[in-house]
Amino acid sequence: MNPFHVLKLSGADSRSPAALQQAAPTLEALGAQEIVRWAVQQYPTGLVLASSFGAEDMVLIDMLARVAEHPTIFYLDTGLLFPETYELINQAEERYGFKAVRVATDMDLGTQAVQYGDALWATNPDQCCQIRKVLPLQQYLKDQIAWITGIRRDQTAQRKSAPVVGWDDRHQLVKLNPLAAWSAKDVFRYLVKNQVPYNPLHDYGYLSIGCVPCTRPIKPGENPRAGRWAGQEKTECGLHL
Ligand code: ADX
Ligand code: SF4
Repeated sequence: MNPFHVLKLSGADSRSPAALQQAAPTLEALGAQEIVRWAVQQYPTGLVLASSFGAEDMVLIDMLARVAEHPTIFYLDTGLLFPETYELINQAEERYGFKAVRVATDMDLGTQAVQYGDALWATNPDQCCQIRKVLPLQQYLKDQIAWITGIRRDQTAQRKSAPVVGWDDRHQLVKLNPLAAWSAKDVFRYLVKNQVPYNPLHDYGYLSIGCVPCTRPIKPGENPRAGRWAGQEKTECGLHL
């Protein structure tokens, strides 16, 4: 079944917060793959997937590759990602035949250290994320129509009510979260079933993976996100607030 036959937003409705809010339950009932297919049809230009190449994003890359001929997949390169992550980017590009768009600040790590002090991630992680992730993202999204992300409702308190589609007021474009209703188990089940490559660090307790200085493996029974900014109040890097 073509999801576009179930729901098609015409003209201004495709970017109307009210129309998107109304569309969300209909789309959610279709399931993640169909939401991705719908997005490709509804936003034939300016649709981008934000990928950290974490487990959720690998599911979405696989789903997008099934329905889009030339998907745009971008990553925010903080310069501090794990070697395994950079390796997975190459692997995914080869497997799915795309070239990931690298989005990054102009400020190299040396200049950041001179201007803000060594290891800004330890002294002021919010500012570090702002420079290396949030501002480059804002800049990049200015030219886009819709973005797909891998956020799930059960990840953090702030994500509890994330819709599968809605208007992103902060960045002024449509935001799709096709996996909003999925659990971590659903994600890994999909990866295994479809033989999708994933970051080998997941097998060593790194459930949620960000930058090297701000990610540690979790112990059995710990919250899956306990390994992000461990020991700090911070739970979000600010991309989705
Ligand atoms: S974070 O806010 O804590 O860093 P998280 O790692 O849970 O976010 O990722 C949630 C979603 O944000 C990912 O599925 C992806 O869509 C987007 N995202 C996170 N980090 C990046 C990144 N480095 N580049 C592109 N998208 C990212
Ligand atoms: Fe900096 Fe850590 Fe944020 Fe990466 S996750 S940008 S190292 S504070």
